[in-house]
Amino acid sequence: MTINVALDGPSGAGKSTIARAAARKLGYVYVDTGAMYRSVALFMLDNGIDPEDKEVVTALLPKVKIDLAYENGEQRVILNGEDVSERIRTSAVSMAASKTSSYPEVREFLLGLQKDIAKSNDIIMDGRDIGTVILPDAQIKIFLTASAEKRAERRHKELVEKGESISFEEVLEDIKKRDEQDMNRETAPLKQAEDAILVDTSELTLEESIDAVYNTVVNKTLKQEKTEPSEKKPSSRDRELMPVRPISKKHKLGFFHVFFYNLLRYIVLGLYHLFYNISYEGTENVPKDGGNIFASNHRSYQDPVFIALHTRVPISYMAKEELFKQNVFFTALIKAFGAFPVVRGSGDTTVIDTSVEKLEKGRNLVIFPEGTRSKDGKVGKGKTGVALVAAVAQTKVIPVGINFEGRLKFRKRVVVRYGKPIEPVKMGITGTSPRDLKKIKNEIMENIIGLVR
Ligand code: DC
Repeated sequence: MTINVALDGPSGAGKSTIARAAARKLGYVYVDTGAMYRSVALFMLDNGIDPEDKEVVTALLPKVKIDLAYENGEQRVILNGEDVSERIRTSAVSMAASKTSSYPEVREFLLGLQKDIAKSNDIIMDGRDIGTVILPDAQIKIFLTASAEKRAERRHKELVEKGESISFEEVLEDIKKRDEQDMNRETAPLKQAEDAILVDTSELTLEESIDAVYNTVVNKTLKQEKTEPSEKKPSSRDRELMPVRPISKKHKLGFFHVFFYNLLRYIVLGLYHLFYNISYEGTENVPKDGGNIFASNHRSYQDPVFIALHTRVPISYMAKEELFKQNVFFTALIKAFGAFPVVRGSGDTTVIDTSVEKLEKGRNLVIFPEGTRSKDGKVGKGKTGVALVAAVAQTKVIPVGINFEGRLKFRKRVVVRYGKPIEPVKMGITGTSPRDLKKIKNEIMENIIGLVR
């Protein structure tokens, strides 16, 4: 039996971002039905058809061919052979899609495609009528919403960042108009299914919203597994998981690269011993080769340097995108120490891919599983990303504890502890299922906690 999660809700509630990230964490396929409606609308606009002209829109449907493709776990929409995944995201297409999706013929046209995908995959399908019309038997139904103002605020920010000049009021009006159209249309109006769980993201961060959806699915499926043990078929769950690609441990970095890195490392090591009262423990746990992950608690912007000072191979680490927009000197410095940007909360496969590439190149990768710096020194909740990178690359994770009291100041006592390497393969883990990832993550977090004291 496959697991179907129906996720409905109004425009701009963050459905697609949240559903995509939750699906990735669960190892499910994410299906964005809005993209299908958008593609129909784009076809009409490209051919100079007025979306209001129902007769013509309906008559042209046989000329529309929509296919879904998956690239690195990301859905791509193919319209008559052209990948239109980006072109369907404009305001003009949004408005047109809202209109054309109100025609029963258009809905009928897409229904088969949507039902077929759900039959053979564990999926999270997002849309407006998934829980009510497309998958009325879905095991889990979620209605994801947020106040119109909050949705407009987020959408406005997104558009401004893309360079569109539009006022907040215009965006709010657009959203209200689309809500009105989507809720009051005769066919399949947007409404919460009776058995759907309501998730309101107005006051939640993106991470919290993803967790809310993820936890709802996990809790529900666990309950179902308990009540219907015979239904359990782990094989279907393994589909569409991120594939494992063990990295080769061959040394690939150039001699001079490693030489100059070590020269710089020794200079900085000397300086840091002057700046801070710093000591290291467990350096025998640091592998001499590259391609390893260092998973550490996060206390300060100096952490990557603290960790790198005892690795003989250059490191790479993920840094918030904002850090690359500071002054030129700072940006150059963090880049020299191997920083690469991540957009926070993007939950992207590209981040995982980039991380694995760095490891494959022979670098060591520093990851802070908590995501943000801890203000009080306590180790917070870890995210699964680190486990996913370790599982995909099938490589060692060295837990690290960075210890100092209060704020980092001149001559402050700092203790950096490296723990024993954790090896997913030795834990019997050879896949990337949610359960496997949780096991690795828990092991890593427990070890980090043990090194912070
Ligand atoms: O989720 P979205 O904004 O990408 O959706 C685009 C339009 O398509 C939106 O106006 C509502 C419509 N839609 C729909 O009617 N039914 C769905 N299952 C998904 C989207």
